[in-house]
Amino acid sequence: LEGNVTGDVPLRLSEKVREKILALTERYPRKSGALLPALWEVQKEVGWIPDSLAEEVAEILEIPPSQVFEVLSFYVLFHRKQVGKYTIWLCRNISCYLRGYEEIKACLEKELGIREGETTEDGLFTFLTNECLGACEGAPMMQINDRYYMNLTPEKVRDLIQKVRKGEPL
Ligand code: FES
Repeated sequence: LEGNVTGDVPLRLSEKVREKILALTERYPRKSGALLPALWEVQKEVGWIPDSLAEEVAEILEIPPSQVFEVLSFYVLFHRKQVGKYTIWLCRNISCYLRGYEEIKACLEKELGIREGETTEDGLFTFLTNECLGACEGAPMMQINDRYYMNLTPEKVRDLIQKVRKGEPL
């Protein structure tokens, strides 16, 4: 489970990410084709996508910054604000809703001590909700960073949070 990185807002892309994006552009007939993977590279390294870095991506891909911002607004899995090391996305769509969303949400908010949309003071967790994450058979479910956790119960949720706090593998 790869955690995000919090800290100062970076104003420039690191050399490593810049090189990765340049390499990605080679795979597409037009540089702009690399937009989504390029943004993922930024988010993977920084944890979120500050405007300054989005503008730099636009410059590399030779597209207007507005095009990058449109994509960032459309894909909710891109973070435009700083987030915690672990981002929790709880699915609020119909299957999950019917199978215990409210109870799981209340449990998460109690356990984390924050409300939806907030980040814990220690910078460890950000709690968000989302539309269907495509794993309805495991409802209720949530995503922590890039991994799914399904058939949630309050006990399972508490256990997961405790493990993250203790630095134990999930
Ligand atoms: S409704 Fe929650 S994963 Fe589909």
